[in-house]
Amino acid sequence: MSDEKTHFGFRSVPLDDKQRKVNEVFHSVAGRYDLMNDLMSAGLHRLWKSSLVTSLRPPHDRPFRHLDVAGGTGDVAFRILDAGGAQTHVTILDINGEMLKVGQERAAERYSGRIDFIEANAEELPLGAKTFDAYTIAFGIRNVPRIDAALREAHRVLRPGGRFLCLEFSKVDVPLLDRIYDVYSFNVIPKLGQMVTGDSESYQYLVESIRRFPPPAAFARMIEEAGFLRVTHRPLTGGIVNIHSGWKI
Ligand SMILES: C[S@@+](CC[C@H](N)C(=O)[O-])C[C@H]1O[C@@H](n2cnc3c(N)ncnc32)[C@H](O)[C@@H]1O
Repeated sequence: MSDEKTHFGFRSVPLDDKQRKVNEVFHSVAGRYDLMNDLMSAGLHRLWKSSLVTSLRPPHDRPFRHLDVAGGTGDVAFRILDAGGAQTHVTILDINGEMLKVGQERAAERYSGRIDFIEANAEELPLGAKTFDAYTIAFGIRNVPRIDAALREAHRVLRPGGRFLCLEFSKVDVPLLDRIYDVYSFNVIPKLGQMVTGDSESYQYLVESIRRFPPPAAFARMIEEAGFLRVTHRPLTGGIVNIHSGWKI
């Protein structure tokens, strides 16, 4: 056990407790996770994920091995498979078997032979070095207790020339939009969570965790510290989310 502290939402918790609490959140909401995403974001999460896949541009004419970490119910992975060619293969990795189970049911026969599922921790990938052409993590990194360890692992499993892409919420800095966003996040989302999943606390955690996540420029420095080059970030929808990009060169 380490004595180090981190945040679970606004609460300070021992580093080793955070993952257990995060796992409880996604265990509780797994069955209704996709529906809640549509309701909470009024469908915007679909556009953000499509922008992520557009940035990735999976090829059509050659083999492409992709790793989607914290891939949950498969939303990003399915989009990558739809956008890529027949030789695109995606590994979905998530620490939570319940989320993966929903993903497996959704994938059914549709992507057979082009997809696999691994239950594991982003901080310690059970995967060989220099294995993947690209790595994505969407709305996952802020849930990981040791973000630096997860970024180092991303760098390790990518081949030279490989691409790292992360889609994550940010704190909104646009006047007025920030107020509306705060009121919506703290007053509406937990109540919606209660109505749809019977669990307001999990959604309270999710909105708090967005406020605790480092600002885009600070997160970009963490990506560089893990060894990535040409690190950039691009805000979408007034900075509600950012797409972070880096290259292993
Ligand atoms: C908000 S969901 C995102 C799911 C999916 N990427 C999407 O965009 O719809 C966050 C996911 O991160 C996973 N997760 C949390 N901590 C993790 C860790 N240490 N390693 C791998 N996955 C983790 C959770 O189980 C959950 O499925």
